[in-house]
Amino acid sequence: MIDLKDYGIEMWEDDTILSFRRTLLAWYDQEKRDLPWRRTKDPYAIWVSEIMLQQTQVRTVIPYYKRFLDWFPTIESLANAPEGKLLKAWEGLGYYSRVRNMQAAAQDIMTRFGGQFPANHKDILSLKGIGPYTSGAIASIAFGLPEPAVDGNVMRVMARLFEINYDIGDPKNRKIFQAVMEKLIDPDRPGDFNQALMDLGTDIESAKNPRPHESPIRFFCAAYLNGTYDKYPIKLPKKKPKPLDLTAFVIRNADGEFLLEKNTEERLLGGFWSFPILEMPDQQTDKKADFEEGYHIHPTWSTATFTPVKHTFSHQKWTVTLIEGTVASPQLTKGKELRWVKKDALSDYPMATPQKKLLENYLTSKKTQ
Ligand code: ADE
Repeated sequence: MIDLKDYGIEMWEDDTILSFRRTLLAWYDQEKRDLPWRRTKDPYAIWVSEIMLQQTQVRTVIPYYKRFLDWFPTIESLANAPEGKLLKAWEGLGYYSRVRNMQAAAQDIMTRFGGQFPANHKDILSLKGIGPYTSGAIASIAFGLPEPAVDGNVMRVMARLFEINYDIGDPKNRKIFQAVMEKLIDPDRPGDFNQALMDLGTDIESAKNPRPHESPIRFFCAAYLNGTYDKYPIKLPKKKPKPLDLTAFVIRNADGEFLLEKNTEERLLGGFWSFPILEMPDQQTDKKADFEEGYHIHPTWSTATFTPVKHTFSHQKWTVTLIEGTVASPQLTKGKELRWVKKDALSDYPMATPQKKLLENYLTSKKTQ
């Protein structure tokens, strides 16, 4: 357990803590958003919502959440879901490792816990893909356990409340915010307490456009009271994603079918289907020769040019050049998972966002040529 004084944080007296809880929860009772995952106590459904909400906003998540529970209504159905359908359910959300981890965790729940979602914090935290934030959210919301759910929103609100001079972007500082929350969290309504801070943090106390004068907890907020609101939270700039040049090959056969390749599991976007794509760090390399050598296919290359596709992941920034070629109907080389796919059947093959952008880019340029 850390001592908050060592971090320059003066924790409130007990009376203030009680008054803070009352104020925050009274506001939540009035203002809380009616969200589908707030109408259930099913830990499985809450888990699904929390994983999705780590990737995108509430508004975007709602339809994905409903469809996911429709397709996979139970832990068992998720554990047994075919890979293609699993990836399809996540298409457009990004970070596919998250849904793969969910499936691994669901299988683990089947074997270790007889299909029952574990009801204590330690076991929840032991599941694949569930870190301290998610375990805290599930433990508090589904099981009423007094566990904080510390994400960026909560850190921002805490940083302002106590003028915390530690970078909220640095993972090693998370424990400071966790310790503050452990003092504040309402043991009688921990799930509502956490969700009240989430609502506050995404709207009135947002990062970009906060409205401090409207905050129900402004009279507890040191930064508000001391006129230092603009200084908090402290957030230092992050490392930039590394730029990477790639070449994608749109190859069609005599029947107009597209050559698709399934990414091996250990690659980025493993399990997804993709146009053959090669990393091309050196502008001088002969991309076409590299392709022909790797795939044992010798297309007639077209001279058409396409606007490069850009896509940014958290750690890589891709610029993908597109090259088009046609072939008769050659044998496909063994050792890679390759397939000829009709245009109308492309949607049966889960493709990640950069590949979808490539396809769209290719098809729209074709139309105008
Ligand atoms: N963001 C993360 N979890 C959430 C929740 N339970 N409700 C609203 N927004 C959230």
